[in-house]
Amino acid sequence: MSTTHEAGWAHASGALRGPTWLREPLDPNALVPQLWSDHARKVDGVLEVAGVKLTDLVAEHGSPAYVLDEDDFRARARAFRDAFADFDVYYAGKAFLSVAVAKWIAEEGLCLDVCSSGELLVAQRAGVDMARVGYHGNNKTPAEIARAVELGVGRIIVDSFDEVARVTALGERRSGAGEPDVRVMVRVTAGVEAHTHEYIATAHEDQKFGFSITSGDAFEAVRRLSEAPGVTLLGLHSHIGSQIFDSSGFEVAARRVLALHARVASELGVTMPEMDLGGGFGIAYTTQDDPSTPARLAAEMAAIVAHECRGLGISAPRLSIEPGRAIVGPSMCTVYEVGTVKDVALDGGATRLYVSVDGGMSDNIRTALYDADYSCTLANRSSEAPPRLARVVGKHCEAGDVVVKDEFLPSDVTAGDLLAVPATGAYCRSMASNYNHALRPPVVAVRNGASRVIVRRETEEDLLATDMGES
Ligand code: LLP
Repeated sequence: MSTTHEAGWAHASGALRGPTWLREPLDPNALVPQLWSDHARKVDGVLEVAGVKLTDLVAEHGSPAYVLDEDDFRARARAFRDAFADFDVYYAGKAFLSVAVAKWIAEEGLCLDVCSSGELLVAQRAGVDMARVGYHGNNKTPAEIARAVELGVGRIIVDSFDEVARVTALGERRSGAGEPDVRVMVRVTAGVEAHTHEYIATAHEDQKFGFSITSGDAFEAVRRLSEAPGVTLLGLHSHIGSQIFDSSGFEVAARRVLALHARVASELGVTMPEMDLGGGFGIAYTTQDDPSTPARLAAEMAAIVAHECRGLGISAPRLSIEPGRAIVGPSMCTVYEVGTVKDVALDGGATRLYVSVDGGMSDNIRTALYDADYSCTLANRSSEAPPRLARVVGKHCEAGDVVVKDEFLPSDVTAGDLLAVPATGAYCRSMASNYNHALRPPVVAVRNGASRVIVRRETEEDLLATDMGES
């Protein structure tokens, strides 16, 4: 018999081995604490988050569901606020945003980064002080910019010469009418591409965001904005990537951005009061990841900036950062119900255990999209059965619909069991889709033994609401 396999993790061949970093656990029931929110624990095999048993939560709210540990979220927000006490901390709402979460962010004293008119609407509905909101995006229309400015948004991050023209025209109109200035930052590409444990320093970045420093575009954008009536130029903005563990990428970026900041001061005589170094701080999805702490990040970033400013002979601008994933990511988990379990024969006589759950790529696209690694645990009981390597898949009509590529689960995992996947707070609900007309799951906040829905499950009526039918 001959079988052909395409390359890649989705097409196993030969003996069944997990990735090298994945160790077979002594007890597959045990939680790996660093992957879970602070108030997650198992009691007689049942996973509890903030005192709420996930068995009860599913009985009340259904499955699948995102479970958000409110106190854990707030504690992570406060940890960034306190560690970066000399900075402004903007929570990046793209990671996950709802009206409740926007309120928590404001209550904990953080600012908010939005990158669309939809996210801005959520901030508005939550009653967030617009002066503490930053507005991003690489394609903001004149109407979107005008609306944000009218709402009193604290800073618009300008991303192209088209936007320079839009902001300049708006500033001119506003100054003519005696209205307050449009407050802007300039998004620059520092020529650093950072991802996880590596960063690449490049002369040019072949991507859509920001103005290149090396080409001179960034300086030119700053020049035009600094001369524009009705526009207040706050400073430069740089975001180098996501899920970063190593501060050397920030160091190279800060050096390049501060050099531009100093050049603007010496050549244009303009001292910009602020600078934003973006987000991107990594979290633990599996045992491979060893994230830093806000305190260590703050100390490193402050030292990098102080060192560069000394070298340039300038005083440091007021700094800000924009963490998203590092605040909400570990605070949330997703609970699913197992529907089918299947042994699939592979080459060489091994079999892979496919465990199908009642969600999938519509509630977590990250495995399919980024080849992301996740882990999971049995959430409704303990098991004496030995661990077995399994692949957790969704219920979508697509072979790449994988939730957890490799995990050791008790080998008696069966239909009706609950599985919980940690660290799904960032870029899961916010990137969820209705693929295959799936209903997007609710976000259930848990705290002190009580649960409450902060984003409800979609209904069949929601699904059909935009379908105009045949008439
Ligand atoms: N600031 C800016 C300007 C950004 O573009 C981003 C993320 C952040 C802050 C927040 O980054 P964080 O701290 O959350 O890493 N969907 C991808 C991530 C895309 C991030 C886009 N920008 C994922 O699921 O990994």
